[in-house]
Amino acid sequence: MCGIVGYLGKKSAVPLILDSLRTLEYRGYDSAGIAFLDDDNLFHIYKAAGKLVNLESVLPDSTPLKSGSHIGIGHIRWATHGAANEINAHPHHGGHQEIALVHNGIIENYFEIKQELEAKGRNFISDTDTECIAQLLEQLTSEMPSDTPEQFRVVIQATLNKLVGAYALSIINKKFPNHLFAIRNHAPLVIGKGENEYLVASDAVAIISHTQELLFLKDKEIAEITPEGIRLTRLDGTPIEAVLEHVELGPLQIDKKGFKHFMLKEIYEQPDVVRNSLSGRLVSAERPIRLLPGEPKDSLKKQTLDTILKYMDRIVIVGCGTSFNAGLVGKYFIEEMVSVPVEVESAGEYRYRKPIISDKTLIVAISQSGETADTLEAVRRAAKLGGKILTITNREDSSLARESDIVLPVRAGVEISVCATKSFTAQIIVFYLLGLAMAEMRQTASESQIKELKTGLLKTPALIEAALSNPEPVQAVAKQYGNAANVLFIARGINFPVALEGALKLKEISYIHAEGYSGSELKHGPIAMLDESIPVISVLVPGVVFEKMISNCQEAKARDAQMIGITSAVIDSQKAESTFDDLLQIPESLELLSPLIATVPLQLLAYYMAEYLGKDVDQPRNLAKSVTVE
Ligand code: G6P
Repeated sequence: MCGIVGYLGKKSAVPLILDSLRTLEYRGYDSAGIAFLDDDNLFHIYKAAGKLVNLESVLPDSTPLKSGSHIGIGHIRWATHGAANEINAHPHHGGHQEIALVHNGIIENYFEIKQELEAKGRNFISDTDTECIAQLLEQLTSEMPSDTPEQFRVVIQATLNKLVGAYALSIINKKFPNHLFAIRNHAPLVIGKGENEYLVASDAVAIISHTQELLFLKDKEIAEITPEGIRLTRLDGTPIEAVLEHVELGPLQIDKKGFKHFMLKEIYEQPDVVRNSLSGRLVSAERPIRLLPGEPKDSLKKQTLDTILKYMDRIVIVGCGTSFNAGLVGKYFIEEMVSVPVEVESAGEYRYRKPIISDKTLIVAISQSGETADTLEAVRRAAKLGGKILTITNREDSSLARESDIVLPVRAGVEISVCATKSFTAQIIVFYLLGLAMAEMRQTASESQIKELKTGLLKTPALIEAALSNPEPVQAVAKQYGNAANVLFIARGINFPVALEGALKLKEISYIHAEGYSGSELKHGPIAMLDESIPVISVLVPGVVFEKMISNCQEAKARDAQMIGITSAVIDSQKAESTFDDLLQIPESLELLSPLIATVPLQLLAYYMAEYLGKDVDQPRNLAKSVTVE
């Protein structure tokens, strides 16, 4: 949600900043902008509405862009305050093109600051909250001594002390062409130290190809970066030691590997993702699950994990979006296997409630990015109240991972498409492993059931491969119903979250209104909407709720809805014909593991519907992959 980049070094700043911004586009693509000082110390700011390519096309082909600038900042925006146009694009300056800054976050008291500054005669040109930081900074430089970097730093502190809200900032000042400032407060920011250069970014992936020596800023820290090094202080000016870590992150693969979109590539990666996620943790049906393979036996982490697996008597899963849906599958599975109560909470709600937490409450934070602001705050709140935090994430280097007692990486690999697919599957895999490990420790399920589930999990990659092998029937359904204005998804039991996820995928990338319901809820309201214009997509697999689902489908069919079934059952042809207009067959698996398979055609359906409608599949409007504002 907004990506920021900064550079200070010997290389040409502009192309490097643009490259880094390219890797951050998953955070927003409403507008892009760059500010830099050329070697004659002249200020340049370029901005464009829309994606980064638009910015690239407005940049003149002149020398400073190619070689004559060694300090600059860049931004890609996900709009919060003010429309997604050029004026509102970052970087912002205070009116005199002397100080420029890029911002990720929200300044909650921007309106009051703006009023105060306007009363002092300052003219605002944008509708953003960010401009108030730039204007305030410039105003304070006129009211306070600011002729040395040290004095400017004090001005920055004074500015920040007036702000309420979340911000990651990078700032340059024409007066100090060898100084790049980076500040974090409730929005991620990392500094990389390369050879004769420093880079700043919202996400390590943006700079990892330049350096692996990283400093992850903590909240309320200010870094003053010069060619001599990083000077780190708290907001009140107290110095702190700048400790760099060596971080190994795989290189970012921005390659569609022949697929038309990243989303399709990532859907097709799922068999390998499952193998990767299981690797070392589930080796055979006979061997116990190892959630942290490679961890020394006597480590503190191992002890914490043992406590979690053996003694926690209540679990609260917190997450947002697709991660929330994965958490629901986790709830169904863990309750079934371990008989421990599990609640799944929307992190944005949970953080403002009064959480009831004891020392035996396990908080499971679920987040692909590990940076979702609401999830992070929910966890901080719970940790303060004594909860143990276990995080399931695709990013071991994330803020969430850093603040947790235990981290279980999902190992999905970098997911580029804003619409999450493979990370959902990998998250569910980790919930299965967690549930099985708890059941093994506590002996809450029979050995034969555990063995059967482990065997089932090991077979999953092949079943997903089979589900992906014949996309034609899904494509046909996508085309047939691609013009629907509303689509309902229904399922029951452990596949209920799959109905929610199917609806979410469709909404996100095709902009078709879609809702997921339990089949049982249909008659409590949504059935009133049904007529021949509404497709109802039902997931039904053999097991506890199969017959109930058939009845729910017949109830919808009786109201003339277009019925599309997704099933692994062999349904009697007469019954099938009288209930469904279209039937998509999926490979059979154990009922408890079936979400892993049933999700696949729903991901494909959303993809092909959006593709049929000509939508921007990988970068759907208004969305961002990492939501760092609340
Ligand atoms: C955004 C993304 C979703 C994601 C959600 C939670 O809304 O577009 O795909 O599910 O954030 O993100 P997280 O990184 O915490 O899983």
